[in-house]
Amino acid sequence: MSEPVQERFLTLQEIVAAARQNLAPGPWGYLIGGTETETTVRRNRHALDSIAFRPRVLRDVRDIDVGGDLFGARTRLPVLLAPVGGLESFVEGGAAAAARASAAFGVPQMLSSVGVPGLEATAAAVDNLRVYQLYVRSDASGVDDCVRRARDHGYRAFCLTVDSAMYSRRERDLAGRFIKPWRADAAAGMAYQAALSWDEVKRFKDRHDLPLILKGIATAEDAQIAVEHGVDVIYVSNHGGRQLDHGLGSAAVLPEVVAAVAGRAQVWVDGGFMRGSDIVKGIALGARCVGLGRLACLGLAADGVAGLVRTLEILEEEVRICLALLGVTSFAALTPAHVAEAPAVVDAGVLSAFPLLGTGAEHPPLPD
Ligand SMILES: Cc1cc2nc3c(=O)[nH]c(=O)nc-3n(C[C@H](O)[C@H](O)[C@H](O)COP(=O)(O)O)c2cc1C
Repeated sequence: MSEPVQERFLTLQEIVAAARQNLAPGPWGYLIGGTETETTVRRNRHALDSIAFRPRVLRDVRDIDVGGDLFGARTRLPVLLAPVGGLESFVEGGAAAAARASAAFGVPQMLSSVGVPGLEATAAAVDNLRVYQLYVRSDASGVDDCVRRARDHGYRAFCLTVDSAMYSRRERDLAGRFIKPWRADAAAGMAYQAALSWDEVKRFKDRHDLPLILKGIATAEDAQIAVEHGVDVIYVSNHGGRQLDHGLGSAAVLPEVVAAVAGRAQVWVDGGFMRGSDIVKGIALGARCVGLGRLACLGLAADGVAGLVRTLEILEEEVRICLALLGVTSFAALTPAHVAEAPAVVDAGVLSAFPLLGTGAEHPPLPD
């Protein structure tokens, strides 16, 4: 009998190591890689590493509530599974496996419009809290049709990814000749993606009442414009460092966006969040929800649905301990006064949150 997943994986580091073992070099490079010099990837971690905690002590922290809430629904943690195209490269069942883990653990999933299975089949796989993310690669009637299908299939909100006017140069994929199956279809729609503007945001808000999320906001200026357009969720993201190279880390951008939004919309964030303490930092700085991109994929690659659920269980434990040691019993009690700027003490990299893996962990496994 195989060892139960709770005993096999005691730490997130063990999950990452298993994922690395299970993935061939092509999908591994696709998963962890970023654009060109991968500076934005590193800055995501560096920004989180540059935040330290200011703990308060002598408070009764026996009962900790680590839950969050999204669109009126309670979530077991204030996190969401960020949209990932091509999940089927990491786990059998692709997006449906992520949906099952989302339901089993109790956090929302944002389904990407690229990858399989699609909108209807993923919704049919399991009843979870779900939202839908679209790359606009069609005319307005195509977008409207997609919104209708999403609403009909129980997606609670609709997300436009706005940081992808061009597809970036991911050199690990190019060097490894890793061809993503969906790229051929993408080519036809890229002109729509490049043409996307605030006019489409206005059109969406005039026409649809599903909450609108803009994913890929990276400045206070754009957050302000989004709020003026009535956008419901400002999702601070640089696509995990996979689009514009030499951007700021998401955690460094978050405070200016939270200040610009001033409570008029929700702010979500992703980019480099790998640990329970990272999630606590994001919420302390004013985010309502933290997206997990690569970490969720690593969980799935380690051991499918069970691997992702185990990843979330360990994160939950890390979060509970972190909140207790900060002297608070829920996320609602966190404030910016619980964090401070501090010099980072590690060399930031996509997997630098996992020091036991050693330096160079991001390189593909050697063939047997
Ligand atoms: C393999 C992979 C595929 C992705 N595909 C999409 C996508 O289809 N749509 C999208 O909006 N973002 C996509 N992203 C970006 C994630 O949604 C998220 O913004 C990013 O991964 C967060 O950074 P992290 O990986 O450091 O957590 C993808 C990221 C990865 C790693």
